[in-house]
Amino acid sequence: MTIRAFIFDLDGVITDTAEYHYRGWKRLADEEGLPFTREDNEQLRGVSRRESLMLILKGRVYPEDKIQEMMERKNSYYLDFIKEISPRDLLPGAKELLEEIRVAGLKTALGSASKNAGGVIDRLGIQSLFDAVSDGHSVERQKPAPDLFLHAAAQLGLPPPECVVVEDAAAGIEAARAGGFRSIGLGPRERVGSADVVLPSLAGVRLSDLLEALGGANRS
Ligand code: G6P
Ligand code: MG
Repeated sequence: MTIRAFIFDLDGVITDTAEYHYRGWKRLADEEGLPFTREDNEQLRGVSRRESLMLILKGRVYPEDKIQEMMERKNSYYLDFIKEISPRDLLPGAKELLEEIRVAGLKTALGSASKNAGGVIDRLGIQSLFDAVSDGHSVERQKPAPDLFLHAAAQLGLPPPECVVVEDAAAGIEAARAGGFRSIGLGPRERVGSADVVLPSLAGVRLSDLLEALGGANRS
């Protein structure tokens, strides 16, 4: 088997913007009198802005203009939270692993459902560490559909089995599997247990550990 690339999710993998997405939705839900807890938020991980709102609304029906207004309001709260993001907000191990992958001659891509992903990697100062960026503007069908990761692999010019997806969300692991990618899940097994390899985080994680855990040395 040959691994030629890693495709990284952003929120909850490279930086903890997953927390800011939660706080944005929580503020909106409180303003609208909608019950929404941290536990409810687990289902929203990796899910698009519109689908996230639908999960919060739990079948309540609203006119389209109100839906649009609520999505914009949440995004304005999120944009406020991320204004101050800087390289200090990189999660432990993420930048080191990206650099190590590139030094080893493998490719890297970003595969995030967020329309704000480009702005976030700019502020983190890591845009030059990606050979390709696929984000919330790249495809119509978001995770758990495989389209975003397929878009990233196509940009890299590689077939899915040669790419490894790194994800913190159940929807992201499902997308990776649906697309024929190998996967690394970060977080509790209840969330990412269907990934090929499960780790608590990227802290202290070396490329050689990942290649070994994925099933042997890379023979490219
Ligand atoms: C990522 C995050 C989700 C977020 C989605 C859309 O997948 O994990 O929490 O809802 O992106 O983000 P956006 O910035 O476009 O609202
Ligand atoms: Mg994520």
